[in-house]
Amino acid sequence: MNVLMIGSGGREHALIKKLLESPRLEKLYCAPGNGGISRDAICENISVMDKEHMIRFAQDKKIDMVFVAPDDPLADGMVDAFEAVNIPAFGPNAKAAVIEASKVFSKDLMKKYNIPTAKYEVIDNANDAIKYIQEQNEFPVVIKADGLALGKGVIIAESFEDAKNAVHTIMEDKKFGDSGNKVVIEEFLTGPEVSVLSFTDGKTVKPMVSSKDHKRAYDNDKGLNTGGMGTISPNPYYSDEMAELCQKTIFEPTIKAMQSEGRAFKGCLYFGLMLTSKGPKVIEYNARFGDPEAQVVLPRLKTDLIDIMEAVIAERLDNINIEWFNDAAACVVMASGGYPESYKKDIEITGLDDNGQVDGAIVYHAGTVYKDNKFYTNGGRVLGVTATAPTLENALEKAYKAVSKIKFDNAHYRTDIGKTK
Ligand code: AMP
Ligand code: GLY
Repeated sequence: MNVLMIGSGGREHALIKKLLESPRLEKLYCAPGNGGISRDAICENISVMDKEHMIRFAQDKKIDMVFVAPDDPLADGMVDAFEAVNIPAFGPNAKAAVIEASKVFSKDLMKKYNIPTAKYEVIDNANDAIKYIQEQNEFPVVIKADGLALGKGVIIAESFEDAKNAVHTIMEDKKFGDSGNKVVIEEFLTGPEVSVLSFTDGKTVKPMVSSKDHKRAYDNDKGLNTGGMGTISPNPYYSDEMAELCQKTIFEPTIKAMQSEGRAFKGCLYFGLMLTSKGPKVIEYNARFGDPEAQVVLPRLKTDLIDIMEAVIAERLDNINIEWFNDAAACVVMASGGYPESYKKDIEITGLDDNGQVDGAIVYHAGTVYKDNKFYTNGGRVLGVTATAPTLENALEKAYKAVSKIKFDNAHYRTDIGKTK
């Protein structure tokens, strides 16, 4: 099998490393990839949004299967484009990817099919939004841009003043562009958060092992929301009973709902859950592997990923047994100082070997480039330093030990991954 991975982050590097374990793999390509990925796969500098170029490249290299990892190309129909030229592609088509691309769509879907989620209102202009918030007069209140915003389009406002500013930022200053044409204003929920990624072929849904993301930039859950600063798997708050309840009240109803809407979802569907005192509720859906959730879930996957991709694409997921390793996993993200706002690039990274790795851990590269036999920073989230061990505590210890060996100017990472709710 020749496989093409589309994307360039830590998640894609984790997928690449898993694909390399498959005895069925012949050649592995990645477009555009990054510094670390270039040590593991043949990288080609094609924009993830350039469908025509991607297809030409895939045809030229006789690609047997494509993996579309990021949200933007999925929402834009990259999978549809490959299907149209008969190249199997893993991921939802554009019609199904809307479950992530529009929060208005996903909230309305949950309401229609009785899938538990926070109470909400959709509003399409700033004045009405502010009026609604004033009338509700309940704080904190959650304000979400409708469209994609790199995981940063959600603002939790503690006061009316903050809420007003958030509405202005999203709907008038258009901080997230057209993603802020509408907002979802939502009830604030509390409880532990759980990420459950699942494989689904549109009919059957098989959850992967659970994980927990740490979204805030700084220790003790302070600072802005980021794409994710670190993860652990399994999630200590997610019991077997909870998993069973979620399967019945959330996972299966969602797959059925998408089918009923004529938007059968094939690929990896990510359930962002909150375990509230009134039961588990959906905070968000993502149409793809989470980043950095993939970095702790995939090292635990025992079954051949190519076999699973094939089963999903052929709609015979019910026929495959997916197995997992018992070891726990932890990932600590090393970011550029200033992320998720402004940060410098092109800073030399030391402490990595020629392949961008350190002993005792797996280093997934997110924002790096490889030049003259050295690695340099090239993004906000730079590395996802991951370790597995029989206990979560040991996995965290190993990951932090590896982090301590890696240096770059102004590096920032959280020191409390696995320790907060
Ligand atoms: P989202 O992009 O929708 O996952 O939101 C980002 C983060 O904001 C979530 O991981 C939660 O920590 C938080 N959040 C989103 N919606 C709510 C809510 N209704 N109540 C409390 N926290 C929320
Ligand atoms: N880590 C959260 C996400 O990928 O959306």
